[in-house]
Amino acid sequence: MTTTTPPEAEHFDRTIERDQRIEPRDWMPEDYRRTLVRQVAQHAHSEIIGMQPEGNWITRAPSLRRKAILLAKVQDEAGHGLYLYSAAETLGADRADLTARLISGRQKYSSIFNYPALTFADVGVIGWLVDGAAICNQVPLCRSSYGPYARAMIRICKEESFHQRQGYELLMTMMRGTDAQRRMVQDATNRWWWPSLMMFGPPDHDSPNTARSMAWKIKRHTNDELRQRFVDMTVPQAEALGVTLPDPELRWNPERGHYDFGEIDWAEFKQVVSGNGPCNEQRITHRRRAHEEGAWVREAAAAHAAKQAARTREVAA
Ligand SMILES: [Fe+2]
Ligand SMILES: [Fe+2]
Repeated sequence: MTTTTPPEAEHFDRTIERDQRIEPRDWMPEDYRRTLVRQVAQHAHSEIIGMQPEGNWITRAPSLRRKAILLAKVQDEAGHGLYLYSAAETLGADRADLTARLISGRQKYSSIFNYPALTFADVGVIGWLVDGAAICNQVPLCRSSYGPYARAMIRICKEESFHQRQGYELLMTMMRGTDAQRRMVQDATNRWWWPSLMMFGPPDHDSPNTARSMAWKIKRHTNDELRQRFVDMTVPQAEALGVTLPDPELRWNPERGHYDFGEIDWAEFKQVVSGNGPCNEQRITHRRRAHEEGAWVREAAAAHAAKQAARTREVAA
């Protein structure tokens, strides 16, 4: 007995197999679409919520130069959110609906943004570690099987690498400063190191969707592979900077050709993901308020678009 595959499903399989891109008008399995909407929306939400910890420092930046850099960086994150919401729309998602899901807590964003940025050194460490981890996660997504997502990631990754460098440059400057500044950098590193490692998600044995996402080439590497890559990349940067990463078990393993590192506190991760991190409530409350206060802008834009469309129709008639 033979089972017949519909031609559109065959086209989908062949496209994935040949490492080509699935485009919005192509047929795709419903689960593929759903998985992508979830991932892209979560990614978009993370960019938007991710503006908050650092945005908090814009008015208190220590110089005009630092203020201009930080303003540009936070604005980039808003842009990333917008590209990604647009990519989600090509899958049939509705942006207003995605925002409603975010502010009602039905869709998640990266748990890293539920930690507070306590000093200006946090701005540097977020650039170095959080944007650094984001790059490790996102560079392989430039080859993701869904075209609009992959293309959005190319531009986003270029900007993320600027973010990472500006963070590192800020930290380098602080490390050449006073003892108090060096202590601030070390303290911020201590607070952000472990949450950065959690950004790669649960360990592979506890990540049920990874295998399917990899088969569909939405994801290219497992969480643990990417986490290891980040650790290997970051240890020499910490040495060059002169800070200590807060992990006594961190050491080079010549047999593996990688750094070994200590056990991540997955209980803390689960707490933060489930809404009980230090800033979860503050982040969502702030986002909800911004959304409500922006209602008149959305209404005005919609009214303007309707007026333009009516005028175009008139001219055509
Ligand atoms: Fe970003
Ligand atoms: Fe960034």
